[in-house]
Order: sequence, then C-alpha cells, then structure tokens
Amino acid sequence: MVLMPVLPPALPAPVADALRQAVGERELLVDPDRTAGYAVDWTGRYAGATPAVVRPADTAQVAAVLAICAAHGIAVVPQGGNTGLVGGSVPLAGEVVLSLARLREVGAIDPVDGQLTAAAGAPLASVHQAAAAAGWAYAVDFAARDTATIGGTVATNAGGVHVLRHGSTRGQLTGIEAVLADGRVVSHLAGLGKDNTGYDLAGLVCGSEGTLAVVTAARLRLVVPPDHVVTALVALRDVADAVAALGVWRRALPGLQAAELVLADGLETVCEHQGLPRPFPRGAGATARAFVLVEVGGASDPTHEVAAAMDEVAGLYDVAVATDPGAAARLWCYRERHTVVIGEHGPPHKLDVTIPAASLAEFCAEVPARVPRAAPAARTWLFGHLGDGNIHVNVTGVDPGDVAVDEAVLGHVLELGGSISAEHGIGTAKRRWLTRARSPVQVEVFRSIKAALDPAGILNPNVLLP
Ligand code: MLT
Ligand code: ZN
Repeated sequence: MVLMPVLPPALPAPVADALRQAVGERELLVDPDRTAGYAVDWTGRYAGATPAVVRPADTAQVAAVLAICAAHGIAVVPQGGNTGLVGGSVPLAGEVVLSLARLREVGAIDPVDGQLTAAAGAPLASVHQAAAAAGWAYAVDFAARDTATIGGTVATNAGGVHVLRHGSTRGQLTGIEAVLADGRVVSHLAGLGKDNTGYDLAGLVCGSEGTLAVVTAARLRLVVPPDHVVTALVALRDVADAVAALGVWRRALPGLQAAELVLADGLETVCEHQGLPRPFPRGAGATARAFVLVEVGGASDPTHEVAAAMDEVAGLYDVAVATDPGAAARLWCYRERHTVVIGEHGPPHKLDVTIPAASLAEFCAEVPARVPRAAPAARTWLFGHLGDGNIHVNVTGVDPGDVAVDEAVLGHVLELGGSISAEHGIGTAKRRWLTRARSPVQVEVFRSIKAALDPAGILNPNVLLP
C-alpha cells in the first residue's frame, strides 16, 4: 500500500502573483508534472502533494517568499537535495515547497581560520571539492554527498562516516544565516573563534529540521586532511567481536577516523546487486558474520600501526587493506551501496538509532528476532556507524503506513537507553515517539522555542513535534 497524497487546492491568485513577483515567473512551479518530484521523499515511503514549488535565487528572495506565505498563513516545507530519510522534506499536507536548490555559492576559504561560507543549496560534494582544492577537508561526509545540500545537513545536524573523529554538522558550524518564519533575516556568519554574545542560534537551528527557520547559508570549519590514509575491511566472527575491536582501535589508533559496520547478509546482497566481487571469497573471512570498514589517517603512513592493532583483535578472520584512493573507494562501495541496494527492495522503514556500546551486540541479535513478530514478511537489514554506536535498522517488505515494526525496534531502543534518532532526525517518521524519548518538560521547552520563532506554525509543520 502506498500512502496516497490528497491533492491540495491551488494557491489563491494574489499569493501566486506575489510569489511570482518575488522569484520570477519561471521559478514558481505549479504544474503537477513539475512539482511531483518535490513531493516524494527519497525512500518512496512518504508522498504528498503541493500547490507550488518556489525556487528563490538568494536570501532576499527567501525572505520575500516567507513574508508572503506568513502574511497569508500558508505553511512551507523547506527542501534542499531531498535526500532525507525520515519524510522531513516533503509536503504531506499540501504545503508550499520552498526549494533552496538555487542558492549554490561556495565562498572563498579563509586560509588562516580554515573556514568557508556555503549557501544552503550547495551540494555537500561541492564543499568537499572547494576544501580539497585549497588543501583542506570538510569533515561531514556520507554517500549522498552529490545530492545532499549544506542547508539540509545543517537542518538535520547530519552525521556521516567521520563523526567519531570530528563530530556531527553542529561541531563544524561557526555561524549561520537563516530566515525566520515572518521573513526576517538572522545573519551571524563571522565565524569568530570565540563569541559568547548570547544564545547560540546556529546550534539551535542546526538539527531543528526546518521548524524554526530556513537556513540560507552556513559558516563551516574545515579540517586538515591527513597526508596518509589506510583503509581496511576487517572480517570478524560477529558483532560482539566488532564492538570489542572498536575499543582496541580507539586506544591503539589515534588517527582512527571511521569505523563502519556491515553484516554478512547485507554485504552478500550488495555484492549480488552491484556485481561486486566478494571481498573474502575463501577461508575464514568467507564465514565472518560482521565486517568493519576502518579508516585511519596520519602524518606518516599508519600501515604498520594498523597491522599491529589488528593483531590485538579477538575473532578477527581476515583483513583487506587499501593504501591508495582507488582501492579504498572499492572497499567503501561495500558499505556505501547498502542504501541504494536496500531501496531496490521497496520503500524501507529507516530506523536510525544509537545504542550504548554495551548493548550493541545484543541489539543486533534481538532486532532480527523481534521484527518478524511485528511484520512476518519483513526483511531486516542492519548496518551503520559502529564508531558512534549508530545502527541503521532498515526494514523492507512492510506497508509504508504500518508502524508496528517501527514500534518493535524503537521500543527496544528506548528499553536499552538508546536514541531513536542518531543522525537522520525525527522527521515525520518518528514524531509519535518523541514524547517517549524526551521528558514532558523538554517537549514543553521545544514547544516554547517553536512558538517564539514560528508562532503561526507555518514552518515544516509535519515534523519533529507531535
Ligand atoms: C548512511 O550511513 O549510509 C546514511 O545514513 C544513509 C542510510 O542510512 O541509508
Ligand atoms: Zn548514516
């Protein structure tokens, strides 16, 4: 069953005229054939409809659009690359879509501070390229880098594969420019190293999922890339050994910058669907149940250090090592292609969670047993960011609207003291569980903040707050 969108009425003519005047005739899309792509999320689980997609070119136009919508009480869903996985960037109740895709500028890099300002619609990969061209790197990285936008990564406090070393997006953010629901612009982009002048608005807007303000630009801190990187795919007996290995690597490898988990059945399906060679076709590696992709950087070649650290790991069956970028990219395929391959099995329920390290192995054993009790035809996939205790539980073969399986998984996460959203956000998908993850007082504070910044509730009304 696919959740069918209710077709919203057309915008009142004076509103459409005002929006056209604000952004130009061509940048207000009202033809359903042209707006449909903006109304379905990447997973295909969430589909809505919109009377219009507005595509402003700059911050002033974003401000004009929001002022018009606010004046007419029209709700707005901000959208960047639409790669979100919790239904947070699509119009589910007839909202106008505010696309930031045309704000693509990536500014010059300050060579001393190592910072740059990127407009909201700049693809994550364009920031990587700009940083690399100047000898820097941007720490936030994940497979959807070519499509995901900086504004979206800020709005969701995106994580990715290097969080264990550099932190999530909030940790890279030194300033922000955003437009409030009524069209006022808040701009704080100096990126000063120390700046205790009141509330941290960048930190507040980061992770607010488009409910408090529309991000138009971000000031980002860059990092110095290591001169040498060793990438290893490690075959282990099981998840418990993988968790124990993480403790060994954390102590022995100060340059550890990624530790990503995949399991045997997921790896096998990725190889089948993508035509990739099995990484460990023979020997003990072929019987491994857990695999960790480890990335270690250093000022000098860390290969020996990595080899020594592997010797300390119990339950290690085999290791494939890459020391050049091409070979490393081939190893990363086994991890990064999970999302696309899972998507080929139908719209997945994406349950992105954090589990305390002590319970990780138990969780990975328990979830595949609980899911079939809630949805007998379902298939469970587990992979994720081992270094952050962040497991991506994906369930396919379940109706988009059936939440029994979500309850089975998220209920268990809460029992274990984990988080129901590690890096994807609450979105619309997990809204009903927010009050079980946060106390009544915390949710009241959330509501007060929302009411202060968006009193009419026009910004992304279907996400986060129940
Ligand atoms: C990933 O880690 O690959 C992303 O969060 C996407 C996903 O969870 O599918
Ligand atoms: Zn992830």
